[in-house]
Amino acid sequence: MKQIVHETPKGALYLEGPCASSYLAELTMNDKLNNFRPPDKQKEALKMIADLDQGMIYIARHEKEIAGYITFHPPDDCSRWVKHPRIMELGGIEISSDWRRCKVAGTLLKVCFNNPMMENYIVITMEICWHWDTANTKLDIWSYQRTLTKLFGAVGMKRVPTDDPDIIEHPANVLMARVGTRVHNNDMALFESMKFKNRLSDASGLS
Ligand SMILES: CC(C)(COP(=O)(O)OP(=O)(O)OC[C@H]1O[C@@H](n2cnc3c(N)ncnc32)[C@H](O)[C@@H]1OP(=O)(O)O)[C@@H](O)C(=O)NCCC(=O)NCCS
Repeated sequence: MKQIVHETPKGALYLEGPCASSYLAELTMNDKLNNFRPPDKQKEALKMIADLDQGMIYIARHEKEIAGYITFHPPDDCSRWVKHPRIMELGGIEISSDWRRCKVAGTLLKVCFNNPMMENYIVITMEICWHWDTANTKLDIWSYQRTLTKLFGAVGMKRVPTDDPDIIEHPANVLMARVGTRVHNNDMALFESMKFKNRLSDASGLS
C-alpha cells in the first residue's frame, strides 16, 4: 500500500491505497460521508469492492477515520463497458464536507494514478448529475460539471462522446476516460467501437 501525507489547514491526512478490506474494517467512517448512501452502508460497499479481483479503494485518512475515498472496480454487469476486457471504472469519489476545498480529491486522484497498474487499463468515469452534492458545494450543475471535468482532467481523463443511455439521460452527464500507456491498439479500437451503439440504426431510420 502506498501512502503520502497531505497537509491541510484542518490537519494532516494520510492518502493511501489500494487498501485491503481487513484494513478498512479497522477504520471508522466520517459521519458526513453520506453522499451516495449512509456511511455504515458505504463502508460495507468499500470493503466489498476491496475484495474484488479488480477492485481498489484509495482513502484519505485522519487518525482512524476515513475522510474520503475513491473506488475502482470492473464496470457494472448491466453496462455496455463490462464486455471490454481492459476497462476499469472509477466508480465514486467522495470527500467529507469536513475536509473539502483542501485539494484532497485532486491529490488522492494523483496517488491513485501513480499506481503503474493503471497504465494497463482504460479507466472510465461516468459523471451522473443526480449524484452531485450541489446543496453542500453551492455549485449549480454546470459549474459542478466544469469542476469535475477539471478535477479528472488533471490526471489525464478526457471527455468521451457516447450514446450510453446513462450519459445521454441528462445533458450535464459526462463520460470521461484515461487510456493507459500500455493499452494495446486492439483494445483501444474495441473501446472506440463501443462508444456508439445506435449510430447505424439511427442513420438508416431503423430502431
Ligand atoms: C467533488 C469533490 C470530490 C471535490 O473534493 P475536494 O477535496 O473538495 O476537491 P479539491 O479540494 O481537490 O478541489 C478540486 C478542484 O475543484 C474545485 N472545487 C471543489 N469544490 C468546489 C466548490 N464547492 N466550489 C468551487 N470549486 C470547487 C477546487 O477549487 C479545485 O480546483 P483548483 O484545482 O482549480 O483549485 C467533493 O465536493 C465531493 O465529495 N462531492 C460529493 C461527491 C461527488 O460529487 N463526487 C463526484 C461524482 S462521483
